[in-house]
Amino acid sequence: MKIVLLGAPGAGKGTQAKALSEKLSIPHISTGDIFRANIKGNTPLGIKAKGYIDKGELVPDELTVEIVKDRLANPDCEKGFILDGFPRTIPQAEYLDKVLNNMKIDLDATLLINVDDKDIIERMSGRRTCPNCGASYHVVFNPTKVEGVCDVCSTPVIQRPDDAAETVLNRLETYHKQTQPLISYYEKAGKLKVAQGADEVDETTARVFKALGI
Ligand code: AP5
Ligand code: MG
Ligand code: ZN
Repeated sequence: MKIVLLGAPGAGKGTQAKALSEKLSIPHISTGDIFRANIKGNTPLGIKAKGYIDKGELVPDELTVEIVKDRLANPDCEKGFILDGFPRTIPQAEYLDKVLNNMKIDLDATLLINVDDKDIIERMSGRRTCPNCGASYHVVFNPTKVEGVCDVCSTPVIQRPDDAAETVLNRLETYHKQTQPLISYYEKAGKLKVAQGADEVDETTARVFKALGI
């Protein structure tokens, strides 16, 4: 399946993408994870992206779209993919339509994971992520099996720098202004599915699978 995940920062896109990737054996592509890997590696892209990410703003479209195009051309995407955090603006969505059109593939669905702003703020403050493999946890809602250590690769987990309280508010504002218009964009295209994301992780996963008919 070819799936786009939409939702506010902290809605659980990364968490549900992981479940979908395991269930469907297709890659999870997160532009946020790609940027963070570039920041860690101090690449020219990482250096440019860091300034925007740390402020809770979007990285400019021209720095973002090429990465996704290259990633989708990888043979592991032939069976399908889960795009998490892309597209995030109308121009990015139009660009994606063009790229997929050229590749002669069609999106199966855009799934919106719906969570209220007040729940988002609580989630972000407790989030811990693995700087090595990108796995995401929550100190209360989704803890690591061994405290402070990634379940997948045993690396010590960290708090993401953009999860600082002021940055979270900015990210939410950016989401409402720039990304929320994609909901009606995909609704008009007849691609939109919605899953409520306020309940616990497993319950949300069940809803996500149901909304996608898998
Ligand atoms: P990105 O990494 O995509 O961040 P985001 O969209 O802000 O979303 P998050 O990763 O913070 O949240 P999530 O929805 O994945 O939730 P998670 O599963 O972790 O992007 C970062 C930055 O990069 C952007 O701000 C931007 O600057 C830039 N960027 C990226 N893509 C871009 C693009 N296309 N264009 C321009 N700029 C771009 O869950 C959150 C927490 O809640 C975790 O702790 C988790 O364990 C917990 N949790 C999850 N589900 C539940 C549940 N059901 N109940 C309780 N807790 C839960
Ligand atoms: Mg994420
Ligand atoms: Zn890890």
